[in-house]
Amino acid sequence: MRLSTAVTVLGAALISDFAAAVPVQDSPRQRLLDGKPLPAKYRKDPPDPYRPGYRDPNDGAVDSIGRKLDPLPYRNGDGTSVLGPWNRERARQNPDLVRPPSTDHGNMPNLRWSFVDSHVRIEEGGWTRQTTVRELPASIELAGVNMRLDEGVIRELHWHKEAEWAYVLDGRVRVTALDYEGGTFIDDLSKGDLWYFPAGVPHSLQGLSPNGTEFLLIFDDGHFSEESTFILTDWLAHTPKSVISKNFHLPPEIFAHIPPSERYIFQGSQPGSISDEFPKGKHVKTSKYNFTHRMLSQPPKNTTGGQVRITDSRNFPISKTVAAAHLTIAPGALREMHWHPNADEWSFFIRGRARVTVFGAEGSARTFDYQPGDVGIVPKNMGHFVENIGDDEVEMLEIFRADEFRDFSLFQWLGETPRRMVADTLFKGDKEAGERFLKEIGDAGKDEITLPPKGGYDEAEGGEDEL
Ligand SMILES: *[C@@H]1O[C@H](CO)[C@@H](O)[C@H](O)[C@H]1NC(C)=O
Ligand SMILES: *[C@@H]1O[C@H](CO)[C@@H](O)[C@H](O)[C@H]1NC(C)=O
Ligand SMILES: *[C@@H]1O[C@H](CO)[C@@H](O)[C@H](O)[C@H]1NC(C)=O
Repeated sequence: MRLSTAVTVLGAALISDFAAAVPVQDSPRQRLLDGKPLPAKYRKDPPDPYRPGYRDPNDGAVDSIGRKLDPLPYRNGDGTSVLGPWNRERARQNPDLVRPPSTDHGNMPNLRWSFVDSHVRIEEGGWTRQTTVRELPASIELAGVNMRLDEGVIRELHWHKEAEWAYVLDGRVRVTALDYEGGTFIDDLSKGDLWYFPAGVPHSLQGLSPNGTEFLLIFDDGHFSEESTFILTDWLAHTPKSVISKNFHLPPEIFAHIPPSERYIFQGSQPGSISDEFPKGKHVKTSKYNFTHRMLSQPPKNTTGGQVRITDSRNFPISKTVAAAHLTIAPGALREMHWHPNADEWSFFIRGRARVTVFGAEGSARTFDYQPGDVGIVPKNMGHFVENIGDDEVEMLEIFRADEFRDFSLFQWLGETPRRMVADTLFKGDKEAGERFLKEIGDAGKDEITLPPKGGYDEAEGGEDEL
């Protein structure tokens, strides 16, 4: 139960108790002071907000999934029931149906997709599914692929036109690559590690013991397709055998049984250690480049409401076209109101439930709820926040087609603007509120993930009255 609700319920209880003249020693207030539980009639859940009588002028967050609510299109006395067909699970995932500030009258594009809605390509010991501009039309700058490789399973040697960035979601994976100077690169990665292969760099992936791996791949073009990669076996299958023979200085019979088409994802043999497997030819050299990075091992920036880790070309130099932030957001905390000046945000939700309202200028805005496995887009410069609306931590990635992570904080901006300008703009008719606001933003810093004070605010936070 949220604190504001507890206070409202208790307030109502006190008034009714006074009227009914209940003995003071057993009043709800006394029971709370004594650390005793409240009688059942005072311990009710917060009211269902999707009802005709519900009013909340402050648009408080509602966790429809956690509370198993059916979002019906009622809001502050307007709207009515649904008579036609109704996909309850979908409705729970779509707060935009009823939840403001959704004032765009349908002009803002959809900014949410879930990998579970993607086509899954199932292969020997693995699978892959993608979110590109075809699944989510707003995903213009980046495309994402979610891939799983079981133990020993190989994603075939290949390269592509786009650069590839990846975040390991679980398990362990071995990556190999060849750099521009002919240097060999091999590394084993675990959860929270990254790799980045610039466009054209040939590479391979293999799931390691015990259960292989799952990762999120990001390509720096939303039009990317996992089907459009340059695959070794596909190339050889489309090259005259006589040419392959000349190229490798061997008779054509040697190549009689090479795969007739691409292998893509397949069960491989168990890899040995990196040092055992490292090629030992006389011209082989170790790459000077770092194609991998331990993102979760970076010391975090601790904010009041969670932790932030930023990885871009400043601390992962090879990653020239992809920048990212990893965030954990405590229950009730807010990734503060902000915007990104240099790129669209491609968000990926790993844990928890969050709501995001995206402000699109021209009087338009739309609210979306996200849960694990969901992808969100925030077009560049559009103001937004991410609010944790569940009981568990939110873990997410903000990913950008950019060399550096950049954002503007609303709090910091107003704190670093002449006070008169701020007061004239926001508090013309309310001097007292204006003074309180200016005091709060007086020492503005950046608190990327901000947590409201534990005891709530001293003034009422908005009603949850049920008529
Ligand atoms: C590997 O997967 C099996 C089957 O799903 C599971 O029982 C086991 O706990 C997993 N092992 C590890 C180390 O995750
Ligand atoms: C690669 O990473 C190592 C260790 O993190 C660092 O010492 C080295 O300077 C890096 N090299 C390049 C080319 O970034
Ligand atoms: C951030 O928090 C973690 C644990 O919550 C702590 O180990 C670490 O020292 C903190 N870092 C700073 C810079 O305060």
